[in-house]
Amino acid sequence: MDRIRIRGGRPLSGEIAISGAKNAALPLMAAGLLTEERLILANVPRLEDIRTMTTLLAQHGLEVAPLDPERRRLAIGGLIRNTEAPYDIMRKMRASILVLGPLLARAGEARVSLPGGCAIGTRPVDLHLKGLEQMGAEIRLEGGYIAARVAGRLRGASIVFPSVSVGATENLLMAASLADGVTELSNAAREPEIEDLARCLNAMGARIGGIGTGHLTIEGVARLSGAEHSIMPDRIEAGTYACAAAVTGGEIVLRNARPDHLGAVVRTLGCSGVDVSETPEGMRVARRNALAGADVMTEPYPGFPTDLQAQFMAVMAVAEGASMITETIFENRFMHVPELNRMGARINVHGSSAIVRGVPELSGAPVMASDLRASVSLIVAGLAAHGETTVNRVYHLDRGYDRIEQKLAACGADIERIPG
Ligand code: UD1
Repeated sequence: MDRIRIRGGRPLSGEIAISGAKNAALPLMAAGLLTEERLILANVPRLEDIRTMTTLLAQHGLEVAPLDPERRRLAIGGLIRNTEAPYDIMRKMRASILVLGPLLARAGEARVSLPGGCAIGTRPVDLHLKGLEQMGAEIRLEGGYIAARVAGRLRGASIVFPSVSVGATENLLMAASLADGVTELSNAAREPEIEDLARCLNAMGARIGGIGTGHLTIEGVARLSGAEHSIMPDRIEAGTYACAAAVTGGEIVLRNARPDHLGAVVRTLGCSGVDVSETPEGMRVARRNALAGADVMTEPYPGFPTDLQAQFMAVMAVAEGASMITETIFENRFMHVPELNRMGARINVHGSSAIVRGVPELSGAPVMASDLRASVSLIVAGLAAHGETTVNRVYHLDRGYDRIEQKLAACGADIERIPG
């Protein structure tokens, strides 16, 4: 299994091009199931999760063809020949559940294994299933599979989410686009990736109103057509590199990054002494003074994203003073804490909060990646640490970061992948 070795202590300097967003690309690929025509996606990131979604769509009968050697543009099209999503693929990635709504809307049935993914909590899919039931689907759970069917077409419904879910909003948005009648989604997630999906669906002929708000209205249509859509830049990747610049005391330009998607992160970094400014090419992140501790609570968008909590904690590990980091989205998302502590951090977890007492310096150590964002937080910490850090089990990292070691090395980091 590959490892990543970092010799820390070098400030980052230079430019990093931000790739297309993983969390936008995955639902957009699933939207390819909603039409027989070609959906062309541009700015597709090169990630393991994209390969997993490609395999999943291919076994449903779709063709996913790269349109350039770099695989930045993909054409998705073809007929649905198989409505079963097997455990072998679903266990690798929770976002595979996003095929459920489109399969049901297009084919009237689906048999989808309960998904896997990062082990950051129980992560049920009850909100997806309840919403589809309200739209007329009959759903049974049998042998680890969700067996769903609908007589005729799904029907528009008024759905009020009891709590905010990105995936459930996306699944129901896609299903409702092909339903009979109007669907209202209240307390819907407002993440920019949902806006990206809704805009692409509208380009395919869907009638979605309220885009960017927590109340979406979808007027179902009989069929959707093909379209061409460019995937938004990855705000989590941009935020991760912003943390890397902050922790090393460097200055980098993040090309294509959208500061308006990172409001809470920009404000929090600002409170810690990090300058973040908008530039014509994206955003610039620089730190010239000492880091100061800052408190953070993760929340649905536009709050501070849970997907940047671990990286921000690595920054706070070397800040002056104490910080309190509270995780409100997932119940088991502090698995990076013992690893950061092995590098000399002083972090205590009390329930859903972590108290971080800043130390002057971290020291490199062999550490173990436990999930996608935890792994990258160890890289962020390793970039600042004195000595050598080896991050094991980097397959988690390859799920979500496009050529991370090349991007960081181009900014002066001493980082390399050791094939294993
Ligand atoms: C998406 C993102 C993930 C991010 C998360 C929260 C993708 C591919 N993944 O995941 O990177 O960390 O949003 O911003 O976009 N929940 C239920 N029942 C459900 C669905 C969710 O209880 O049916 C709970 C979850 O366990 C979790 C919370 O709701 O505690 C939020 O989850 P959700 O927004 O659905 O996350 P994902 O869509 O899985």
